[in-house]
Amino acid sequence: MANYHKYILDKKKRVIIGDFEAAYSKCEIVYPGQLELHTVKHRLITEICQRLRPNDKVLDIGCGYGYFTSFLSNNSQVDIYGSDISPTALQKGLQVHEHKGLVVADISNDLPFKSDTFDAVICLGVLALLFDKIEKCLINMKRILKEKGLLILSVYVPENPIGSEYIKNKEELYNVIGKFFQVNEVCLIWDHKGIKEGKSLDHCDDDLLVFAQKI
Ligand SMILES: C[S@@+](CC[C@H](N)C(=O)[O-])C[C@H]1O[C@@H](n2cnc3c(N)ncnc32)[C@H](O)[C@@H]1O
Repeated sequence: MANYHKYILDKKKRVIIGDFEAAYSKCEIVYPGQLELHTVKHRLITEICQRLRPNDKVLDIGCGYGYFTSFLSNNSQVDIYGSDISPTALQKGLQVHEHKGLVVADISNDLPFKSDTFDAVICLGVLALLFDKIEKCLINMKRILKEKGLLILSVYVPENPIGSEYIKNKEELYNVIGKFFQVNEVCLIWDHKGIKEGKSLDHCDDDLLVFAQKI
């Protein structure tokens, strides 16, 4: 298990530790997948970019080093902001790429943005670490979205996720999102176990990309 994991989750006790600041400040690299533009990321980026419009005001929440935030800044016409709970993640990212709109914020707490501010909020690879606080996270994202604003989530939903008494499978995930948003589309992006077993994506249901609208 990569070194940074010890600050984030305990697989034996099946709990989320969630000390992201310690992970980012004590380890050279956290979640190296953030830095790669591999096939799966490419698909994810393509799906997301197709749904954003020029001049949309967009927040990438839990942006880590801000690579995707920076990608959107350089390759689209959206007005992009990024935030993460870890100041060190944002600082380390800034050493690699310029970005103006980065803010430290905890998605499960009060977010430092005015209500009805963003046309889209993107949250990639974050909620599976916060399943037990997911309602609060969804309420927070809903508040800062404009009317009919777009919520874009990539969520890892394995069977019986670690640290969650609340979300056990993708149906429960859709139900909780549906309390606050209208779920419009779900794309399958990646299946960790299925791919290893050689299954096609049609038979897998692990990493989901969810598009939902503020209602
Ligand atoms: C798996 S990484 C994903 C990073 C990036 N979004 C990506 O897809 O490459 C999860 C990120 O969520 C951030 N995070 C975890 N809990 C958070 C919270 N409560 N509020 C905001 N960000 C959080 C972590 O610091 C980390 O950078």
